[in-house]
Amino acid sequence: MIRIAPSILAADPLNLERDARRMMDAGCDWLHVDVMDAHFVPNLAYSPAVVKRLEEITAVPLDVHLMMDHPERYLDMFLDAGADLLTVHAEVSSDLHAMLHKIHRRGAKTGIALKPGTGISAVEPYLDEADMILTMTVEPGFGGQKLNEAVLSKISELRSIGYKGEIEADGGVKEHNLQSLIDRGLTVAVMGTALYRCEDPKAMMARLHAMGEQK
Ligand code: DX5
Ligand code: ZN
Repeated sequence: MIRIAPSILAADPLNLERDARRMMDAGCDWLHVDVMDAHFVPNLAYSPAVVKRLEEITAVPLDVHLMMDHPERYLDMFLDAGADLLTVHAEVSSDLHAMLHKIHRRGAKTGIALKPGTGISAVEPYLDEADMILTMTVEPGFGGQKLNEAVLSKISELRSIGYKGEIEADGGVKEHNLQSLIDRGLTVAVMGTALYRCEDPKAMMARLHAMGEQK
């Protein structure tokens, strides 16, 4: 199966509730929330307060992607707000073991994200503590970018070394390229512009889920 996690970065910032409900009505599995600190990435997005309000209106897990230089300073704030899965980047200088341990101790799931230029060797020491590996398929910071095909081999590599956790792709994932990711071992697809800008997200969601059944 394939889980679909619409990224609210592509939602109308003045109508987050409307757009989040539209994705839940369409049958999404998770909601992907991008958090940006204007340091790790050249953009700013979403605070714990937004996560808290989303948690109050959503019935699906909140998949929170921290694109921050010092995520260790904010883990409790996002966990208090209701993050169900908290993903930190492998490229930060913070103690990854300590962060993953804290997230688990507080009852949430852990994710480690890799920028396109970062190899899987950066996460190999942590695979037992990571419920999910997020492979960025674009340079983090903005939606609407084109998927970087060169990254796809990382998905196969992770499966070939025996990783059994979730593998998520984030950035430029579309209906026309999703099957090739699933065939490599992908289990979660983040989709922003493709889903929020389509006429009938419910019909698209059904087609996307059907791709997971084909594998
Ligand atoms: C980019 C974010 C992605 C982005 C995906 O840094 O992490 O979640 O919103 O949007 P699309 O699917 O439009 O590339
Ligand atoms: Zn993201």
